[in-house]
Amino acid sequence: MNEAPREQWGSRFGFVLAAVGSAVGLGNMWRFPYFAAENGGAAFVFLYIIMVALIGLPIMLAEFAIGRGSKKSPILALAHFGGNAWKPLGVLFVLGGFLILSYYAVIAGWTLRYAWNALSVGFGSDPAGFFGEVSTGGDAALWHLLFMAVTVLIVAGGIRAGIERSAIILMPLLALIVVGLAIFASTLPGAGAGYAFYLKADFSELLSLSVLTEATSQAFFSLSLGMGAMLTYSSYLSRDDNMPREAVIIAGSDFMIAFLAGLMVFPLIFALGLSDELSDSTIGALFISLPNAFGEMGAVGRPVGILFFVALLVGALTSAISLLEVVVSAIIDTWKWPRRKAALIMGALITMVGIPSALSIDFLGLVDQLAANLFLVVGAFSLSIFVGWVMPDPIGEVSKGAENIRWLPLWYAFIRYVVPPLLLFVLYFTVINTWNMVTGLIGG
Ligand code: PFF
Repeated sequence: MNEAPREQWGSRFGFVLAAVGSAVGLGNMWRFPYFAAENGGAAFVFLYIIMVALIGLPIMLAEFAIGRGSKKSPILALAHFGGNAWKPLGVLFVLGGFLILSYYAVIAGWTLRYAWNALSVGFGSDPAGFFGEVSTGGDAALWHLLFMAVTVLIVAGGIRAGIERSAIILMPLLALIVVGLAIFASTLPGAGAGYAFYLKADFSELLSLSVLTEATSQAFFSLSLGMGAMLTYSSYLSRDDNMPREAVIIAGSDFMIAFLAGLMVFPLIFALGLSDELSDSTIGALFISLPNAFGEMGAVGRPVGILFFVALLVGALTSAISLLEVVVSAIIDTWKWPRRKAALIMGALITMVGIPSALSIDFLGLVDQLAANLFLVVGAFSLSIFVGWVMPDPIGEVSKGAENIRWLPLWYAFIRYVVPPLLLFVLYFTVINTWNMVTGLIGG
């Protein structure tokens, strides 16, 4: 059979922007600020940076080594270096991408609806009521479907014409909006109170094991690690990329946007004295308290609100694209389907599997815990074992194109001896949390 040659990124810059697009998403603008505010403020930010450096960056480089080294999608890439016994891990990755996208696209659907409403009619006077309407039932399912349609369209366009092109247009726009809104928020009268709520350091929180677990799984989720997204994107790289440098740029940009998101969100909320609502830290908090603030802000509220939801939407879209690409690339490689067919059929299946999440926020929370916390930690742990103990010569692969390779043995030692035990520890607590959540939902 005559196979088409494997696609490649048009430029390094395109790859970096697409990877930053995968990393920056709802996790940065919605999860990170709340986690930080709830779990020790500046102390959490500090712990988070340490986890990104100790575990996130080494795992990202490990994914890059497998992806670029094999030039294959996750399932075949693992088999390439480790034999067929490792295929099930690849299947877990693909399943993880499938499941995360199924509910991620539901939240993204709410975002799309909010952006649309902000543009067309502005913010109403009953944000909680509006959120109730948007977030459940047929409305949620409809906007979920619309969002998935856009995602499918871009992934069907291919690596260069679809994914890379959209990232090159959308990511600078997102960065500009987030920086602009953070600066604007700093001029508001409530800025000081907002910053204090977000960053007031409480180092005692760091002694709690659940905070450590949350910081770690948040790092994986935010950096799109542990389910083959970075592996897949790096499989479209050419040989001479400087992967360590790119990993640092990607992780650094991801952190900056998450940090700035907090500097933008809390002053906006505190400027209007709406902080009471923050005690309720459910998934909906952002979708209720912020629109409330925009509605109360007078004439500037509407443009600020439009910009905010457009940025959130852009982040969600470029992340959803990478989630779908993991699934689609695996299907293209394993079943030899053409890209368009794979994108359309897999997109339709994911949309269907997401419907229960659109109908029930409790169900959405459960899939989130299962896929985003449990799967990613299991995935990252297995990846560290794979690259540390199974893959032949990962240092050799990472060295190609890298400039400063003296410290690569240190990276390798980390992946072998430090990351696995740390993750085993985190995994233990993640399993307990997941178990409690499942029994809580069944019992309650
Ligand atoms: N990194 C994305 C975010 O922070 O919203 C979510 C995500 C994308 C997780 C892709 C995992 C992934 F493979």
